[in-house]
Amino acid sequence: MKIIAGNWKMNKTKEDAKAFFEEYKALVKQTDNKVIVCAPFTVVKTVAKQKKKNDINVIAGAQNVHPAKNGAFTGEISVDMLKSMDCGAVIIGHSERRTMFLETDEFINEKVKATIDAGMIAIFCIGETLEEREHNQTFEVLMTQINKGLNGVTNSENLYVAYEPVWAIGTGKVATTEQIQETHAFIKELVTKQFGVDVPVLYGGSANEQNCSEIFAIQGVDGALIGGASLVASKFAAMANYQA
Ligand code: PGA
Repeated sequence: MKIIAGNWKMNKTKEDAKAFFEEYKALVKQTDNKVIVCAPFTVVKTVAKQKKKNDINVIAGAQNVHPAKNGAFTGEISVDMLKSMDCGAVIIGHSERRTMFLETDEFINEKVKATIDAGMIAIFCIGETLEEREHNQTFEVLMTQINKGLNGVTNSENLYVAYEPVWAIGTGKVATTEQIQETHAFIKELVTKQFGVDVPVLYGGSANEQNCSEIFAIQGVDGALIGGASLVASKFAAMANYQA
């Protein structure tokens, strides 16, 4: 079983999302993979409806959440609002949010806690920049992101970690087998130490229908967080259909 999580980012209107699933439903097979589509807020409900409407096994996800219950936070969205749209998962701490929207490890930590407390899956993203890798800081960076991002989190039942080297996101440059294996092993060791149980670790960064078999065969890879390839129904269906 692999976790196949799409990250649509700021793409797809309601009409686009419906057209995507029309095409996707003809291509996807019943497998035991867990498929998640993290969509813009405006189409989370459209994704959530696919189970009933088209008999598609997909969990609807979002790409951000605010940790507060409610209040004066213009432009933000709460866990209760997401849940009311049958949202079951949230991407937290994506590198685009860390760099473009200046999210700190501390803020990300609050979001992880709020999401897990609400019973939704938290897809907690970490990863080093090219500069950090070239300065041999990869493991230090990952350790800091994990220690701060998961500080005080006690329940790992709905926690997934997504290892996304920033230099591999949207670049067509996939991390090597060796890089993926050693980082996933490192992440698993840290997280297992904290929770006492295994936590799924997804790889993200230019994963697609052509390289996913190779990526999924790497020890310690429990699935993928997929950007570009998740926007194309045929590509995403091919990944959702993965079987070892
Ligand atoms: P990509 O994006 O698959 O387009 O590299 C991955 C992500 O940003 O989660």
